[in-house]
Amino acid sequence: METEKQRLSQLVDELNTHNHNYYVLDNPSISDFEFDTLLNELIALEKAHPEWVQADSPTQRVGGQITKNFDHVTHSSPMLSLGNTYNKEELEAFDARVKSALGMETVDYVCELKFDGVAIALIYENGLLNKAITRGDGTQGDEVSLNVKTIRSIPLKLSGDAPSHLEVRGEIIMPHSSFDQLNKEREEIGENLFANPRNAASGSLKLQDSAEVARRKLDCFLYFLQTPLPYIHTHYESLHQLKSWKFKVSPYSCLCHSMDEVISFIETWNEKRKTLPFDIDGVVLKVNDFHLQEQLGFTAKNPRWAIAYKYKAERVTTRLLEVSYQVGRTGAVTPVANLEPVLLAGTVVKRASLHNADIIAQLGIHLNDIIYVEKGGEIIPKIVDVDRSQRHANTQEVKFITHCPECGTKLQRKEGESAYYCPNSKACPPQIKGKIEHFISRKAMNIESLGEGKIDLLVEQKCIARIEDLYKLKPQDLIGLEKAYVNNDKERIVSFREKTVQNILDGIEQSKQIAFERVLFAIGIRYVGETSAKKLAMHFKTMNALMHASFDELISVEDIGEKIAESILLFFKEDDNIKTIEALSNSGLQFSLSASALPISEQFKGLSFVVSGVFSSPQARKEIEELIQKHGGKLLSSVSNKLSFVVAGENMGPAKLEKAMQLGIPIISEEELRQMINKA
Ligand code: IVH
Repeated sequence: METEKQRLSQLVDELNTHNHNYYVLDNPSISDFEFDTLLNELIALEKAHPEWVQADSPTQRVGGQITKNFDHVTHSSPMLSLGNTYNKEELEAFDARVKSALGMETVDYVCELKFDGVAIALIYENGLLNKAITRGDGTQGDEVSLNVKTIRSIPLKLSGDAPSHLEVRGEIIMPHSSFDQLNKEREEIGENLFANPRNAASGSLKLQDSAEVARRKLDCFLYFLQTPLPYIHTHYESLHQLKSWKFKVSPYSCLCHSMDEVISFIETWNEKRKTLPFDIDGVVLKVNDFHLQEQLGFTAKNPRWAIAYKYKAERVTTRLLEVSYQVGRTGAVTPVANLEPVLLAGTVVKRASLHNADIIAQLGIHLNDIIYVEKGGEIIPKIVDVDRSQRHANTQEVKFITHCPECGTKLQRKEGESAYYCPNSKACPPQIKGKIEHFISRKAMNIESLGEGKIDLLVEQKCIARIEDLYKLKPQDLIGLEKAYVNNDKERIVSFREKTVQNILDGIEQSKQIAFERVLFAIGIRYVGETSAKKLAMHFKTMNALMHASFDELISVEDIGEKIAESILLFFKEDDNIKTIEALSNSGLQFSLSASALPISEQFKGLSFVVSGVFSSPQARKEIEELIQKHGGKLLSSVSNKLSFVVAGENMGPAKLEKAMQLGIPIISEEELRQMINKA
């Protein structure tokens, strides 16, 4: 008969195989539901037997551990960079150098994609992932193991015949889908956006909270076997070997026997790269044969047996027509260049980012200048240079504005930040609109009936100026209002007829039932996103308690760091925000956790429980655990003399059973637990 321990080990292997099929082979072999069911079974077994948790268990990937300081670690051998080439001639020159140094007529090269991410060294001891180290300065890097373990495509355990000590190197990337989602979430909470996926990947690896890294959905391609193995003679073989150990290896690497083949690979991918779900910035060329690599050796900085061919960021010239300034919900002012429309990388570009005042000053740009626009790793095209030879006399230099273009208030710049802010958060129209739009958005108060241009109209007509004004709206304020607006280049009209007005007022009324945690997200405290709002709500339970929380109390909450804590304190210090909170409270919004989330009773206060064994389903087990917590009980994972009760299902682990019996701890069934509650 299968023991629980064997079952646990089997579940780990099975789940790891499904993970590999999904994240590495891109070929799912099981539904999400089936996966979760197996995972829940594993979680239950691990909870009952924490001493059995395996290092390669998929539960080790969800993160939650914090790295306070990243240790500096010296690399086994320096992590070198590659020489760059930008055209065919430079590439031919590299090939000629290689052939002449080796005295050979033909040399095989492996062509690979050059991933635009962050280099990483992974060290495995006895088949288990032991350390992950960033490139750092090439000689020493930072140990980021806890964060890297959250990347699902990186095996925690190698399969097959891996040597007892193994180092492999590769690139951690952030796929476009993860990048877009991350920036969207950051925009919602007024956090600065990442300029490109590379910066986002690099920033993510340095986060202290590994649970946040797990949410960011990074990926990793391996392209280098650092530990020499006697039976591997070429780079191409090494890639196959990496793959058989379950690493994610690019399927697009190509063994080329001539420079013509190399050039054709480069040209093909210059086009095809636009269809990849992640960024590459070129192609890497590596001499295939390890003996030849050894003969060629290294310069001080680069291997002589490899080179990068960098794709040119696509660049065009056009004319700068004017610079406009956008003011966001938080008051940050962003300069935008309006351009004579031009075709760039397949899309017509009319606008480009000018980032901030420093960059404008560096460029020394004038209105009507002919400028160079590039689309590189960045999503939004940017102005990279000016053609001064074509500048007309008497043109005006672009100077960053000193006052808000929307409300005329003098702009401010915070210490150490490059952005200028409009401090008039109470009366500056785009800030007002932005705050209200955030408040009614789907993940916040979800007042759908106020979408599409309606907020603009209400703010312009002075029907509302603050979020709390929504709850004072009357039908007579709204009926008959009308406005034309542009959406997707098409002109549309919003007009408030009776039915529309009723829908709006109904939507506003219904929002009074929206749960406290979403109200907390909706009021727009800077840096407080959906997740932190939830954690804060669960911890403080009421708005009042949160408003009076100290800095230390705030940072004691899971996932709440110093930056968020400071922002919360600042928010509640402002009289104006307090006025909003009071008005919303008077309008009847949910300012405390609802009964279903709050404990039902304190019947089990001071009592602790271990739930062990197999129940009718993972859901049943979850229910039992929730029941205990809702009645004030504490869940523990191991049996000790401090324990009050064991709630046993079927096949409870024999060691646990014995220990509980030895210590005289009452062992009760699910049924008996329910009876205890009912009696009370
Ligand atoms: S090989 C000694 N292969 O590009 C050679 N590097 O400037 C080790 N990179 O630091 C690197 N894709 O971060 C290699 N297929 C690939 C690559 C690649 C991206 C990065 C890597 C390296 C940098 C070189």
